[in-house]
Formats: sequence, structure tokens, C-alpha cells
Amino acid sequence: MLTKLDEIQAAALQTLHSVSDEDALQAWRVTHTGRSSALMQVFSNLGQLGKEQRPLVGQKANQVKLALEAAFAKHSQVIKEAALSHSLEQQHLDVSLPGRPARRGRLHPATQTLRRILGILSEMGFQVFTSGEVETDEYNFQYLNFPPDHPAREMQDSFYLEAGERGDNPLLMRTHTSPGQIRAMRLAAATDPTNPPPIRIALPGMCFRYEQITPRSEAQFNQVEGLAVGRNITFSDLKGTLNDFARRMFGQDTRTRFRAQHFPFTEPSAEMDVECFVCAGKGCQVCKQAGWLEILGSGMVHPTVLQNGGYDPTKYTGFAFGMGSERQAMLRYKIEDIRYFWGNDVRFLEQF
Ligand code: PHE
Repeated sequence: MLTKLDEIQAAALQTLHSVSDEDALQAWRVTHTGRSSALMQVFSNLGQLGKEQRPLVGQKANQVKLALEAAFAKHSQVIKEAALSHSLEQQHLDVSLPGRPARRGRLHPATQTLRRILGILSEMGFQVFTSGEVETDEYNFQYLNFPPDHPAREMQDSFYLEAGERGDNPLLMRTHTSPGQIRAMRLAAATDPTNPPPIRIALPGMCFRYEQITPRSEAQFNQVEGLAVGRNITFSDLKGTLNDFARRMFGQDTRTRFRAQHFPFTEPSAEMDVECFVCAGKGCQVCKQAGWLEILGSGMVHPTVLQNGGYDPTKYTGFAFGMGSERQAMLRYKIEDIRYFWGNDVRFLEQF
């Protein structure tokens, strides 16, 4: 039995020499030390040996087992090193080659413009306030002083959700960021209803209109709204703030003009134009020969709106303005078709 163990060991070590890769090594381990190997047979047959032989054979079998395991570990190391030096020889690495540039992502032009607008407004002391894209009819229209028959409230102009289920206060996708005015005012007024704090906020976000999609109109777009409420805020504050905004956004020499407009939630209301920065007011394709570009709607917050927000209109005044940020990006980068913004065409996106 003892000689048999010597033979087992010698045979195993002999074949190990010719093992030259990891798979063969694993196969060797199974054959020579696995459950059905000759060595393991010796262990399982120990019980059939006589009292004197048993400890001798057992000890010897253990020695063989240890020797094979040690040989296995050593050979496995040899194979690993051989594989490493082989791959080092085969794969030449030229560390002097220039690296491949990593493809970096970038912000969508709409996001870039949105952030730029918010950056300017926050420098001017406006805090960002966000509210939901799904609104109720009350917040989107009623509290903002829209008369019940206002055309914007037609099904053809707004995306209504679950129409009919909520009576005269259906859910809809907000058509502008103005409902955030009411939400912000109510939140602030709740902190001190008798003496609500002043407000100066910017309200960014996606708006939705049931529009025919054309180069100039999309069904979804971003707006940034501004709202300032306090005591003694006047139309001069509105003009000064927006003039300053225009200079920061389009350059120090930017000229502006205000034209009377109508919005239900502001009175008086005005639209602001900036002098066309492509032709400096001379008239070109971008400004359609007008020399001016319309960039935002604005006005003094309507007393009814202040009231709906929890601010006493006999004590408080305020101004608000709203602009489309894709529109600003179109002007800035001379983009001629608003549909590019949601077209996801990388040839467009990569230009920004
Ligand atoms: N909400 C208006 C719109 O979507 C813009 C606006 C905001 C006008 C605030 C005046 C004051 O056209």
C-alpha cells in the first residue's frame, strides 16, 4: 500500500510537468486529488486495513495529499507567470501614443440657456422656486384672473387630463409658469398672514400647449417667470430690473423698448423688445426687418392676483415677467426652427 502511494505521487507529479495552461491544471486537480482519484480511494478504503497498517497508510496518504497540493500551488503560480509574460510579449503598449479623447456629454442648449437666465436672475437677487407641471384649472387660470371664456382655456389650446372628472377644476398640463406665482405667494403669506414677507423669485419650468407644431411653436417649451412682491414696488422697478437683465443677457449696450400688451394677471402689462443684436437695429432676417426682437411679457401684478395669493392689494404691489427660454436660445444662437430642441438630433446638439 505504501509503495502504491509512492507510485500515485510520482505519476501525478510526472503529468503535472506537461500541464501548461489553467484549464489543464484544473483538470489535473480533479484527476489526481478529486473525489474519485486513486489517492482518495486510499482514504476511503482505510477502514478495511488492519490495526497496524491503518495509521501508517493514513499518515503516508496525508503526506502525498499535502505534496500534491503544494505541487499544484507551485505549478499554478508558474502558469500564471508564464501567461503574464506571454501577454506582455504579445501586447506591445506604446505609452508615447496620444490618448483617445473621452467622449464627453454636454448640457442641452435649452438647459444651458435656462441656467444662464437663472444665473443672471439669481445674481440680481431672485431665488429659484419650482412648482409642478400638472396644475389645476384654478391655479393655471382662475386665480390668475383669466375670465371663464378666455380662449387659452379652450380644449384646443391646453392639454387637459381626465377631462370632466373634476367638474370646473380639471387637471391640465400648465400652459405657463405663472401658476407658480400663486403657489409661491400663498406659501410665503402662510408664514405670516397679517404681514406677509416680500418675495423675489424666479420660476423656471416646462410648459405645454396644444399647439400646431411649426418652426416657431412647439407643444412643450421652457419658461422662466420672475415675480417681485413688496411694498412700494413700481413700474420703474419693473423696467429697471428688466433693462438690467437684458444688458446682462445680451450685452452692456443692449437697447430695449416696452410696448403695451394685455395679460389677465398683470395691469398694466407690457412686452419688452431688445434691439436686434444681429443687425444692431438696422433690420435683418432674424428680426424680420423690424430692428427689434420681442423677448418677454411683463406687468404689474393684478390686484386680484395679489389677493388670491394672500397679499392685501391696498398694501402690496408687485411686478412679474415671463420669457420662453428656447426662444432666447434661438435668438442667441440664430436657431431658425424650434423643433430642433426636442428632435434629439446629435448633429444639432453637438453644436452647443
Ligand atoms: N405667462 C405669460 C405667458 O405665458 C407671460 C407673462 C408672465 C406675462 C408674467 C406677464 C407676467 O405668455
